[in-house]
Order: sequence, then C-alpha cells, then structure tokens
Amino acid sequence: MRIDIATLFPDMCEAVLCESIIGRAREAGILEIHCHNIRDYTLDKHRRVDDTPYGGGMGMVMQADPIFRCFEAVCVQLSQRPHVIYLSPQGRVLTQQLAVAYSRQDCLFLLCGHYEGVDERVLEEIVDEEVSIGDYVLTGGELPALVFVDTVGRLCEGVLADESCFTEESHFNGLLEYPQYSRPAVWHEKEVPEVLLSGHHANIVRWRREQSLLRTRNKRPDLLEKAPLEEKERVFLQNTDREE
Ligand code: ADE
Repeated sequence: MRIDIATLFPDMCEAVLCESIIGRAREAGILEIHCHNIRDYTLDKHRRVDDTPYGGGMGMVMQADPIFRCFEAVCVQLSQRPHVIYLSPQGRVLTQQLAVAYSRQDCLFLLCGHYEGVDERVLEEIVDEEVSIGDYVLTGGELPALVFVDTVGRLCEGVLADESCFTEESHFNGLLEYPQYSRPAVWHEKEVPEVLLSGHHANIVRWRREQSLLRTRNKRPDLLEKAPLEEKERVFLQNTDREE
C-alpha cells in the first residue's frame, strides 16, 4: 500500500513514521509512505500557504492552490488518482471496521489541514471523504493522519507477524480483548488464572471469550449491544452477577 501525506509539517510526520512497526514495514517495502511539504508547492515568493478569510473572522485559511498542486504532483507520480481523505473533526469517525476497508486500498492521499481551515474549493475539487479520529478538535490534521496511518498500516498484509495479532484484539469482532498475562506465574501475590496454565486449549478459548464478553459489558456496554453474539451469549446483555 502507498500513502501520501500532504502537510505543512512533514518532519513531524516522518519522525513518527520512521519508528517501530510502521518504520520497519516501510524499510521492508511493505508500506510506501511519503510526506509532502505543501509549502514546496506554493508559487508565492514568500512561500506563503495561508491567507485571511474572506468575510472576516479569526485566524488564517490554507489556500487552495498549493494543496492542489501538491495533489497533482502525487497523481503524476502515481499515474493514477489516489483516494483522497481530508482529516477533519467534521468527518466520519474512524473505527476498526473502516480501518480494515481502507487497508484494502492501493493508494491513499491524506490531507492535513491547519489554522482555521482549508479553502473549501480545493476540498470540493479533490477530497473523496473526510475522516475524524474522534469528537474533539486538534490543532491540525497531522496527529490524526499519524493515527490513521498506524491504524490502517498495521492491518496491511505482512506488517504484523501473524494475522491473529489483529483477529484476537479489541474491536476486531466488536468486543474488547480478554486480559493477557506473562511470566512470572505469581507477581505481587497475584496469580495468573489457572485455566491459562492448564494447557487445555478448548477451555482457554472458552475462558477468553467469556472474559471478552464480561469486559465489554463492564467497560463498553454500548459495544456489546451492537456485537454479533451467539444466542447463548445474549445473557451477557443483562447485568448478571458474573465478574471479570
Ligand atoms: N483535525 C482537527 N481535529 C481533528 C479530528 N478530531 N480528527 C481529524 N482531524 C482533525
């Protein structure tokens, strides 16, 4: 998968994207990510990319032309038009299900806004959809773009060692993940649940599923209501006495 990020702060994006799992996937050629400085595409002699809003008001607005020229340059490099996402608090909120769908795209172009916004005309002309990372407002689209790339990138084939890395984790099946334990078997007088030491695979699977259901009911009952449950699991929708 290829992702192009158009931003006024390419170094901020690079600093994160060269590290850890995403950084290794880039080095291995599994993910191709390019950060473009929108300022490199302005024709203004002072390299300006923003101006005051028509109609007055606070702050500055990012101008249409440098963003459009940046997008055109990427289209030429790709020899195709990427799917364009504008990171914005007005967008559809990113979920694990959406991330899975985005991870199947060949190329994505992420536009990071700043200041008071972006000239609406370039949004109308190039943006396919707006995506938000949650109902709160950040100072710019860079952190949301990084969250997006991390969430989507790790779902691409070959980025994580094993597919069970994400089929088992929170949100994949609409539930939160069961608790995990590692050595030592006793720590601060707390024991690892016995079933996990039993080696009995079927019991472990059953216990983990039940823990997932209990956790989801306790921490995110809103998710449990929407999760695909088996008939016998529907008892978890009621507030029974069972504890995690
Ligand atoms: N830009 C500012 N706030 C944002 C948010 N919550 N999601 C995506 N982009 C944003």
